[in-house]
Amino acid sequence: MKNTCYILRGLPGTGKSTLARLLSAANSATVWAIVRTFSTDDLFINEEGVYEFDPSMLRQHHQENLRQATEFISRDLREDHEEIHMTRIAIIDNTNVQHWEYEPYVTAAEEAGWDVQIIPLAWNYYDIPEYAKRTKHGVPEEAIRRMADRWEDLPKKYVVFPTIHDKLRVDGQTQWSAPPYDSTQTFDK
Ligand SMILES: Nc1ncnc2c1ncn2[C@@H]1O[C@H](COP(=O)(O)OP(=O)(O)OP(=O)(O)O)[C@@H](O)[C@H]1O
Ligand SMILES: [Mg+2]
Repeated sequence: MKNTCYILRGLPGTGKSTLARLLSAANSATVWAIVRTFSTDDLFINEEGVYEFDPSMLRQHHQENLRQATEFISRDLREDHEEIHMTRIAIIDNTNVQHWEYEPYVTAAEEAGWDVQIIPLAWNYYDIPEYAKRTKHGVPEEAIRRMADRWEDLPKKYVVFPTIHDKLRVDGQTQWSAPPYDSTQTFDK
């Protein structure tokens, strides 16, 4: 199996970390793999193990998450390194509402010759109050609505995770896709 970077996208409370745990468990069980999950949220956990959001640190923590993921993805393993024969799996567990937010991860993975799988978590505008109840990070409903308004659908150039939600034709070939909320919209790339 090829080294793979899974990039999760989803509003708060829509199940990203749940899926990250499932992917991590599935990959650990089925291939001889090193799986690492990178989430900016985790960098807000203080020394007592408590999540403490500080908006002034958001940019810095996003940069640090990218740095750690890139370091893992582009690590140059020597022939005698025991991990050289293992498949490496990186899971990016961030909201990734707009494309620019996850493009650097795509670039790092592609430059290292990894597969990239972008997985949008389906969401629905009417369920936002429910997501606000589910999120572990206290994101208010209003903030989730603002993120929903900024949401960008997946450009067709990316490989997408097979799901039963929808089927698209891309470059003359049938592909599977899970548009998060509007399967009729046209793609921008
Ligand atoms: N499809 C679902 N239906 C019902 N509950 C779900 C679903 N997906 C996740 N949950 C539950 O919702 C809660 C939040 O899920 P999770 O932590 O995976 O979301 P998230 O997208 O990582 O949110 P955030 O990081 O913003 O808190 C968890 O208690 C999880 O068990
Ligand atoms: Mg989460």
